[in-house]
This record gives sequence, structure tokens and C-alpha cells, in this order.
Amino acid sequence: MVHLPTTNTKIDFLGLDHIALNCSDMKRTVAFYNGLLGMPILHTLEYTAKDDNGDEVPVGQHFFFGVGGENHNAHLAFFYWKNGYHPEAGNMSPAPRPTGVYPRATKPGVVMHINLRVAQERIPEYCKLLGDAGIEYRHTTRYGDPWREVTTHNGYAPPTEGCLMDSVYFDDPDGLHLEFNAWLPLWDSWTNEDEPWADPRTTG
Ligand SMILES: [Fe+2]
Repeated sequence: MVHLPTTNTKIDFLGLDHIALNCSDMKRTVAFYNGLLGMPILHTLEYTAKDDNGDEVPVGQHFFFGVGGENHNAHLAFFYWKNGYHPEAGNMSPAPRPTGVYPRATKPGVVMHINLRVAQERIPEYCKLLGDAGIEYRHTTRYGDPWREVTTHNGYAPPTEGCLMDSVYFDDPDGLHLEFNAWLPLWDSWTNEDEPWADPRTTG
């Protein structure tokens, strides 16, 4: 009989940090998870992108719904995208993305990605573990005011001053998107002040 290991000698996971999901109306999602189920909104974010005229316009929102427990950052991460969604689930869907749909706007109602919390100082080592196994990954650090992201493909770029989050993204063999993430201390001061957007096709 094979005895599979019951401890992890490779990666020191610090718990399930968040599950990322898309919703089709943030106002409705807030009414359900915050209003009905009482989950606190830990933080909020808004995303912009350039429109056809080159103007930076609002395109999406990201609300963090706290789920309690020992990790005070543990949450459901809901995203809402104004310009619609990819028609299929999965990070490597063969169907083309409809015109205007934001790249991260995958189908609502299914998992977008699963995040496992790790210690920030060990992320370079975990990147190497993935790279040595031939798994493609992207390393992203995020900064606030204004919000910006720095992404490196198949390599680790150390965070610079003002970093809020340090993340690595990759796929499992079925294309399920995974993230290892650490929140830097500055993150705790991020606000939760955005108004949830309604969608005219649902709550209007
Ligand atoms: Fe995430």
C-alpha cells in the first residue's frame, strides 16, 4: 500500500486566502453577500482601461467579502465587468473573447481562480519550483495611488517600495487557475469606499 505524505515539505501554505469569482451585477452581489449573509466588505477596487478614443474609463470593480477565521484577509473576491464576459469558463477557453470584453472577465458563476496564501519572502523559491517543473507562470506585484501592476512572465521581479500584493499565477493540468499570494503590511490600510455598480440587465 502506498502511503501518500500528509505534510507538505515543498510549500508552506498559510491557508486558503480567497476564491476569485466574477459576478454580473456588483450591487446585487453586495446585497446578497453583505446584506443577506452579513459578510463585511474588507476592501474595494476599481479598474479603468482606455476606450476607443484613448480615454481612461471605468471598466470593472473588485470587492472583498470577508469570510472570517484566523486569517483576517480570507475572503471571496468578486469582480464585476461593465462590458460583458467571456462566454465560457476556464482560463484556456478555445472560444474567442467578444469585442470589448475585459481580458479577466471570465464567465460568472464559476471559479476564476483559487488563491493560497504563502509567506512573501518564499515566493521567489516557489517561482523557481514552478519553473523547474516546466510550468508557465506569471509573477505580479501591485501598487496603489494610482493602482498599477507589474507582471513578469516566467520570472520573479522583486517588489519595490509601496508594494501592496505579491502574487504568482499558473494553471493546474485542467486549466484551473491558481494563485500564491502574500499581502504586504501596507495592504491593510487600503479602503473599502467604492459604491457597487448595478448592471442595467439585472438591478439597473
Ligand atoms: Fe486573486
